[in-house]
Amino acid sequence: MPDKLGDMRRTHHCRQLDANDIGKEVVLMGWVQRRRDHGGVIFVDLRDREGITQVVFNPEVDRAMHEKAHAIRNEYVIGIRGEVEARPEGMINPSLKTGEIEVLCRELRIFNAAETPPFLVEDRVEVSENIRLTHRHLDLRRPGLQRNIITRHRTGAAVRNFLNDQGFLDIETPVLTKATPEGARDYLVPSRVNPGMFYALPQSPQLFKQLFMIAGLDRYYQIVRCFRDEDLRADRQPEFTQIDMEMAFVGEEDLMAISEGMMRAIFKEVRDIDLKTPFQRLTYDEAVGRYGLDKPDIRFGLELQDLSDIVAESDFKVFSSVVKKGGVVKAINAKGCIGFSRKDLDDFTDFVSVYRAKGMAWIKVKEDAWQSPIAKFFSDAEKEAMIERLDIEPGDLILFGADMPKIVNESLGHLRNHLARKLNLIQDDTFGFTWVTHFPMLEYDETEKRYQALHHPFTAPFEEDYDKLESEPLRVKSRAYDLVLNGFELGGGSIRVHRTDVQRKIFSALGMAPEEYEDKFGFLLSALDSGAPPHGGIAFGFDRLVMLLCGETSIRDVIPFPKTQRAACLMTNAPSEAGKAQLDELGIKLRKTKIDN
Ligand code: AMO
Ligand code: AMP
Repeated sequence: MPDKLGDMRRTHHCRQLDANDIGKEVVLMGWVQRRRDHGGVIFVDLRDREGITQVVFNPEVDRAMHEKAHAIRNEYVIGIRGEVEARPEGMINPSLKTGEIEVLCRELRIFNAAETPPFLVEDRVEVSENIRLTHRHLDLRRPGLQRNIITRHRTGAAVRNFLNDQGFLDIETPVLTKATPEGARDYLVPSRVNPGMFYALPQSPQLFKQLFMIAGLDRYYQIVRCFRDEDLRADRQPEFTQIDMEMAFVGEEDLMAISEGMMRAIFKEVRDIDLKTPFQRLTYDEAVGRYGLDKPDIRFGLELQDLSDIVAESDFKVFSSVVKKGGVVKAINAKGCIGFSRKDLDDFTDFVSVYRAKGMAWIKVKEDAWQSPIAKFFSDAEKEAMIERLDIEPGDLILFGADMPKIVNESLGHLRNHLARKLNLIQDDTFGFTWVTHFPMLEYDETEKRYQALHHPFTAPFEEDYDKLESEPLRVKSRAYDLVLNGFELGGGSIRVHRTDVQRKIFSALGMAPEEYEDKFGFLLSALDSGAPPHGGIAFGFDRLVMLLCGETSIRDVIPFPKTQRAACLMTNAPSEAGKAQLDELGIKLRKTKIDN
C-alpha cells in the first residue's frame, strides 16, 4: 500500500540546500534517481525539476525506516523528512549545487512504486530516439530536456514582456480556417455539419494578422501554433510555433529594429548575452553570391568566388562550356587544407552530388606546382587571375563547382558548411545573425510549370518593379526580409501589399484567374479596399530560436511532444484510423482502408 501524502509538504526543492542549511529539518519530495547500499547505510539520490539531493538512511537512526528504504527502486516517488548534515570529508561532490550536504532521513513516505524504466533517466544515456519518444514522459524527466523546456518557457516570457512593453496586443486567430499559402500542403479537417467541406489548419495566421492591421489594431503578436504538411527535417515539424507579429504604418527598418530589440531582450534574459545590433545585412544576391545559400552561416569565411570570367575561354571544356551555356564556375579556397586525402576529396564529391553537382574539380597548391587532374588545362594568365581572386598560397586546396547557378550555389554553399564543421571553424555557443533582404518576388516551379511566390503572395514588390510583374516576373524583387542565425532561417517577413490593384497583379502573375483569386482571397481584396494602412510583419520560428538558445541541433529536443520524420507521435500513436461510424457521420468514404507504404 503506498503511503499517503497526508500533511507532508515540501519545504525545499532538490537543488536548494547547501552548507548554510546544516542543522535544519527539511521535507523533500521527488523521484529516486538512484539507490546505493553502502555497508548498511543506504544512499538515495532524490531528483525533482530543480536538481538532486542525496538522502541517507542509517539503520542506527531508525531500523524500520532503513528496512523500508530497501524497497526503493529507481523512479519511485517518495517524500522524506530529515536533517541537513555536512557530507563527511571525501564525500563532497563539487559538481552538484547540493554537493556539500546530505539529508539524514527520519521519515520516509513512498507515494508510488515505479516499474523498471526502459532506460535510465539521465542525460547522456545511449538510447534510440524512438524509444525516448515512445516513453516521452520518462524522457521528459531527464534534466537536460527539462532545462530545454524551462528555457522555452523563459524565452516565451521574454518575448511577451518585450512586445507588451512595445505596445503590441496578443490576439488569437482561428485554427479552423481557410488555406493560407505558405508553400506547404495544408492539413484538412472535415466539417460534420457541412458534409464534403473542409477547414484547413493555418500554415500561419498571415491573413488574419493583416486584417488586424486593416481593423486598426496597429500592433499584433501571438506565440502561435502553425501546421504544415511538408517533409520533415531536424529543423521542421508538421506543427510548430511561431512568434508572429504585424505592425501598421511601418517600413522594413521599423520591423528590423523591433526584431533586433526583441532578440537582444531574449538573449539577455535567457542567456545573459549582450547581442550587438544592428545585425549585419546582406541582399539575397550578396548572400547567394558569397555563401551560396540564402541562409548563410556568417561565423566563418570560406566564401565562394565566381571564376566564370576567368575560365570562360579555358581549355578545360567542362568549365568553358558551362559558362557558354549560361552557367557559372565558382570555387572555395580551403586555406591550408592541402593535407586532405583522396578519400576526403571523394567524400566531398559524394557530398555535392546530393545537390545534383556532376563533379568536384580540385587543385592542391604545392610550393612548386599545382597538383590536380585539371591544372594542365589552364594558361599562366588564367592561373595568375585565379591566384589573385582566390588569394591562393602554397598549402591551399581549391574546390570547384561548374553548372547552372542554382546547382553550383547550393552544392558549394552546403559544402562550405560541411568544411567548416570538419575543420572546426565554428566556436561553440557563438551567434552569427544576419538579415537577408531583396529576395526575388517569384520563382519558377519546374514541376508545376508556373511561378510561385518565394515568400508569399501578400509580400509587396519594390515599387520600381511593379511593371515587371507581367513582362519580367523573375526580375521583380520583393520587400521581404529573413533573419538568419547560424545558418538557420530564424524568421521571415515582409512589407505587405496594401493596394488591391497590386495584389490582383500578383495573383495574376502566379497564374490565378480572377475567379480563382476572388474565390480564395475575395475577403482580403475587399478588406484592402476598405481602407488598408501600409503595414508589414515578420514571424520567427520559436522552436528554432529555442533550439539555438539551448545549443541543440534538432527542434525535437525543445518540443515536449514532437513528431517523427513520418509525422507520427510515438507516445499516443497519432495519427490513427477513424472508425466507420465517425467517417459516415463526416460523409467520408475511404478508397482504401490502409494506405500502402
Ligand atoms: P515563414 O513561412 O518564413 O513565414 O515562416 C516563419 C518562420 O517559421 C519557421 N518555420 C518552421 N519551424 C519549424 N517547422 C516548420 N515546418 C517551419 N516552417 C517555418 C521558420 C520560418 O522562418 N506568415 C509568414 C511570416 C510573415 O510574412 O510575417 C510566414 O509564415 O523559422
Ligand atoms: P572529367 O574531365 O570529367 O574527368 O573531370 C575532371 C575533374 O573535373 C574531376 O575532378 C571532376 O570531378 C571535375 N568535374 C567534372 N564536372 C564538374 C562540374 N560540373 N563541376 C565541377 N567539377 C567537375
